[in-house]
Amino acid sequence: MTEIIDGNEVGERVKDGLADGIETLSAEGVTPGLATVLMSEDGASETYVSMKQRACEEVGIDSVHVEIDPDAPESELLDRIDELNEDPSIHGILVQMPVPDHVDEKAVLRRVDPAKDVDGFHPENVGRLVAGDARFKPCTPHGVQKLLASADVDPEGQDVVIVGRSDIVGKPLANLLVQKAPGGNATVTVCHSRTDDLGEKTRNADVVVAAVGVPELVDGSMLSEGTVVIDVGVNRVDADTEKGYELVGDVEFESAKEKASAITPVPGGVGPMTIAMLLYNTVKAASLQED
Ligand code: GUN
Repeated sequence: MTEIIDGNEVGERVKDGLADGIETLSAEGVTPGLATVLMSEDGASETYVSMKQRACEEVGIDSVHVEIDPDAPESELLDRIDELNEDPSIHGILVQMPVPDHVDEKAVLRRVDPAKDVDGFHPENVGRLVAGDARFKPCTPHGVQKLLASADVDPEGQDVVIVGRSDIVGKPLANLLVQKAPGGNATVTVCHSRTDDLGEKTRNADVVVAAVGVPELVDGSMLSEGTVVIDVGVNRVDADTEKGYELVGDVEFESAKEKASAITPVPGGVGPMTIAMLLYNTVKAASLQED
């Protein structure tokens, strides 16, 4: 039987585990605070940000939402980040990506105080992660590690193929999985759009993580029997539904399920973990700042 890895359930466990930390802070008169910043009218980004805010409320984290006109100059976004950096009630700052084309994404990531960078995207935090001294593990890769652990998959000695080399998922996940640490010690291959014969790579994997943003790119014919499959993709594809679209992953679920020993669904797999690990990082940021 193929195990369907339930990200909602694992995410709830992570959230439950935050209660002690939040209580300790509360005894010191501190409520963790997260600022979400959105400079976009993209429907998916708006949905993600409101889900993040709702999750904060659920666990007792204060959330502040800042919306910036997508046509405003870059300086307006940078000024708002400066204000949040200075605000002692804000422990975590998340600028939802992508930002508009006229805004320099790297300049934005550099502007966030690294101590408040709960995404783990600031170059200082990226460097610390690569050096094996992470302050904040990026939320989605950390969530993937938790999902593997929940399915009793120890990456040590396993061949893990990551499809996708993004700064948000593929690259940081590869770094985490090769580290000499629990949840690491894997042999990692990172595939991308220029990879020759992707199927040959994925068929030789013990674990496949698809994080490429191409609907249903990985199907059952590209997997060997018993592979563990983690699907990070969330793609809106046109469909005859109320909203006019449906969500599909980067994995063709039905054919992949026939081969996999364990697989995450979309939705209900990695998505809830990204949010849970964001809350985890926010409580950690508050604890570090109030120490
Ligand atoms: N856009 C897509 N994923 C993410 C994420 O994890 N954090 C931020 N800030 N933006 C994103």
